[in-house]
This record gives sequence, C-alpha cells and structure tokens, in this order.
Amino acid sequence: MSTGVTGGPQARTAELGAARGVAGAPTFAYRNRTLCCEDLPVEALYRSVGPLYVYSAQRLRDNAERVRRAFARVQTLVAYAVKANTNPAILRLFYECGLGFEVSSAAELSIALAIGAAPAHLVVNGSARNDEELAQAAGCGAYLVSVDSEAEAARLEQAAARAARTGKLTAPVRAALRVNPDIDANVHPDLATGLADSKFGLPPDLVVDWYVHPERTPHLRWVGLHVHVGSQILDVGPLLDTLGECVDLVERLRSAGVPLELLDLGGGFGIDYDGRGGLPFERFADAACLVAANQRLRLVVEPGRFLVADAGALVGQVLSVKRTGRTFVVTELGMNDLVRPALYGAHHEIVPVREPVPLAQGGAPGEKTDVVGPVCESGDYLARDRWLPPVAPGDLLAVTGAGAYGYSMASNYNGRGRLAEALVDGAQARLIREREGWRDLVRLASDLAIEVRPLATPAAQPGEGGGAAAGLEEAAGAARSVHSWVPATGGVTRVMAAAISQGLHRKRHGGSKAGKPQGEGKEAARPRKAK
Ligand code: LLP
Repeated sequence: MSTGVTGGPQARTAELGAARGVAGAPTFAYRNRTLCCEDLPVEALYRSVGPLYVYSAQRLRDNAERVRRAFARVQTLVAYAVKANTNPAILRLFYECGLGFEVSSAAELSIALAIGAAPAHLVVNGSARNDEELAQAAGCGAYLVSVDSEAEAARLEQAAARAARTGKLTAPVRAALRVNPDIDANVHPDLATGLADSKFGLPPDLVVDWYVHPERTPHLRWVGLHVHVGSQILDVGPLLDTLGECVDLVERLRSAGVPLELLDLGGGFGIDYDGRGGLPFERFADAACLVAANQRLRLVVEPGRFLVADAGALVGQVLSVKRTGRTFVVTELGMNDLVRPALYGAHHEIVPVREPVPLAQGGAPGEKTDVVGPVCESGDYLARDRWLPPVAPGDLLAVTGAGAYGYSMASNYNGRGRLAEALVDGAQARLIREREGWRDLVRLASDLAIEVRPLATPAAQPGEGGGAAAGLEEAAGAARSVHSWVPATGGVTRVMAAAISQGLHRKRHGGSKAGKPQGEGKEAARPRKAK
C-alpha cells in the first residue's frame, strides 16, 4: 500500500544542528532554520508529495507508551479510538505497541480487522446502528460491544440470536450499556456527551432497570458499564466525578445481584493545542487504577486525540497575502482539510516551515492575520486574528495538532481531493495515503437504473403470510438485494469514470449494457488498477 517518498531526504539530526521546538508538536523542531519532523525537513516532504499531513512515528509510539504505562497497574485494554485517525499504517503501528481499538462504525471495524487486530482487542461502540452493523458487532467476537439504549440492546440481542441460530456465535456477546452520568465536562458544547440533554447513553436508573433483567437478553452478557462524557477535556475534575458516578452505579448493581467485571471509561483526554497545558492525564489514570483495584474491575480506556493529535502537522503553501484593512494570508489549505477551527473555533498553532529571523536579529515584525483557505465559505479559516511572522507567497506553513480529526474529518467539498499522508520514522518517510485527484471524486459516480422491488404490505392480514414481521423481513431482503446489486456493476462505474475523463460522458439507461467508452484515447484504453 505504501510507497517510499521517493528520493526522500536522509538528512540526519546531527547534520541539521541544534533543535528549537514548536508549540503543540513535540517531535517537530527547527534545525538550521528549517522545520523538521523527527530527522526529516518538512519542506523536502512537501516538495515530494505536495500539501500533506505529516505524522511522527516516534511521537505516536511515545504517546502509546505513556497511556499504557499510566494504566499498567490494573488490567486495562487501551483501545485507540480509530475515528481520530483511520489510517491503517497508524493502526498497525499502535497494534505493534500493544494497543487495541475502539471502533464506532462498520468501516472502522473492518479496517481494524484488516490490519490483523484480534477481536479480543476490539471495543465496538455506536449509537445508531442498522441491522447489518449490529449483526457485524454481535458476530465479530469483540472484547466489548457497547449499546446506547434499551432499544438498541434489544436489537443487539436479536442479532446475537440470529448469529447463534446460524452457528456464528460461540459465546454470549460481552456487552455494556452506555451510561450518561449528567456531568459537565467543561468542553465546547458540541464536544460534550455526558450531560442529561445529550443524545448519548442512559441515566443510571434506566441502566439498573435494564441490567436486573438479564433473562431478556440470553445471548448477551452484561459485563460492565461504558461512559464517555466529552472530548478535549482539560479539567480532571469532571473525569473524577464520572469515575465516582460509575463506582456508585457498580455498587448499586452488585447489591442488586448484577455481577460487573469491567468499566469502560471512554476517551476525551485533552491535549495542549496552544501551550496553555493539557489534561493532567496521570492524575486521572492513577485514580482510575485505584478504583479498579478496590472494586476488582478491569478497565477499558478509549483515547483518540491524546494518541495522535500532537504527532501530526498539516503542511501547505501560502498562495497570496491580501490586505484590505484586515490581512488575509491565503493558503492552499482549507476547511475541508482541517475543519476544527471552522467547526469549533478550535485553536491550532501555525508556524512557517522556514524559521523566521527574530526581531532582535534584524527580522521584520509580524502582523495580525486571518489565515484562510480556498473554499467558497466565509467560515473557511485556519486561524483568526492570529499573530504571524512575515510570510510571502510560496512560503510553507505547518498547522500543528493536526494528527487527530484532521484527515478523518476531511471532505471533498468544492471538489477538493483529500491530501496525502506521510509517516516519518527517524530519517525515513513512507507515503501512507496518496492524495486524491479529481478522478477519485468521480470514481463511484454512475448513472445506472436501480432494480427496486416492491415492498410487502406491512399490515398483511393473519393467514396472508406472517404479518408485519414477515413484511419487514422481506423489506430487509429487498434492501439487501439492491445493495448487493449495485456494486456488482463496479466495472461499469470505472468505465464511466474513464469516459468522463475523456469528456465523452453519455447517459446510459438500463444499466446492464454500459458498453465501451466512446473515447478510445490513452486514458480510456489504459488498463486500470483494480481498486
Ligand atoms: N470513545 C467514544 C465513545 C467517543 O465518542 C470518542 C470521540 C472517543 C472515545 C475518543 O475521544 P477523544 O479521546 O479523541 O477525545 N471531532 C471532534 C472530536 C469528536 C470526538 C467524538 N467522539 C474534534 O475534532 O475535536
């Protein structure tokens, strides 16, 4: 999958001279006035692959080690929250460090399994899953499957029962309900998930009501509790309060005869984006380990950002500097590459790749700027009112803290391909994701007739064949058949993409007879790699 960043520079730390650190990116530093990721100059990476996300393998390993060490005293599954960065090379690196994975969608689960993760190292979460996803969760043998409501618990039971009927379930599914403790994590409102008015989880009373009836779910074993009260949490107080609420609930349940063995404390551990400090992580970990030892509980933690954010930077070029009363530094990086500033007003440090000459040494003064991108939205900014040293068109900028929720929240808006990703390890770099081009944006585009089967009447009368349940079964069957029918014509899609690239797009109806593209030019004729 990954090719070497060709002709990659092999400059060694010693040759690059003494390092000057960069806020928010511990393994990025200026050496000989140029920004390096570990031992590689970032500018050389940019010259090889264009705008990109650069990740430091050393920092990923250090972060994994820090979390593992903090929880070493009790049996803990450190399950990296894949949503923060889904690149398979990063998952593989973490797996080699002994981490498991928290997945929150069918695709994340598939990626984790594809890199070779054992199901016993997986936590499968989700708050709104369709039957297919629940079947996958029930049948994959995960260490823990968390559910968000009684209704979802009942549907997981149905999925597990179906799996048992077909011999796919050898032991009850290890399950947990997500509890909502009504705790204010003191984070951005859109990142708070543990308040009573949040859509996530159930209040403690409802968890008790459900757990005292295990007979309703014979194919599930309620082994523990799951909680996650927010993201980018900087105060340890709310996390300790959450711990306290969980212990109360464990004790309540145990005295009601429900034996629990495990506490999944979620993620949310805040990092230092702006030099003002991150969460005192070890304080929380120490408290959690103490509680776990006292209560004879095993732990799960699900850090995402904490493991990847400060290992990554987003690098791109300044296109122009526009002065209209405000100063706009216009870059090739947009909100589609890093949406956090636009979505949450989040702060990411932005530094020039060539180290600015300090004022004291005759450098020019900086100015207050808005760092903006090419997307057609006024909200398209990476920073507002940000003091930057003087920059000019062609200069490269690095946006730090971009390892988490950067690529994984990137979009194709404005027809912009998502950028490349490179993983630096010492003086070596690997291209771990290629940059998307416009052909990737039309690769799945098609104009095919869809075979739609009529649905059975839901309110079929008794004696007419099974009633509503049968109707639903049949509807699910129809949905499956459409689903499986469309990808079967994937070849047509690729042919059409080739035709579009020739400017010879012809609308075809009827689907099955796509024929050859009209243009037989180089692009259409070139054999295409199977995707
Ligand atoms: N576990 C669960 C159940 C979660 O919902 C999440 C994140 C995590 C673990 C990992 O949280 P972390 O340790 O990364 O904070 N897009 C936002 C972050 C949303 C997080 C959603 N859930 C951002 O860019 O700040």
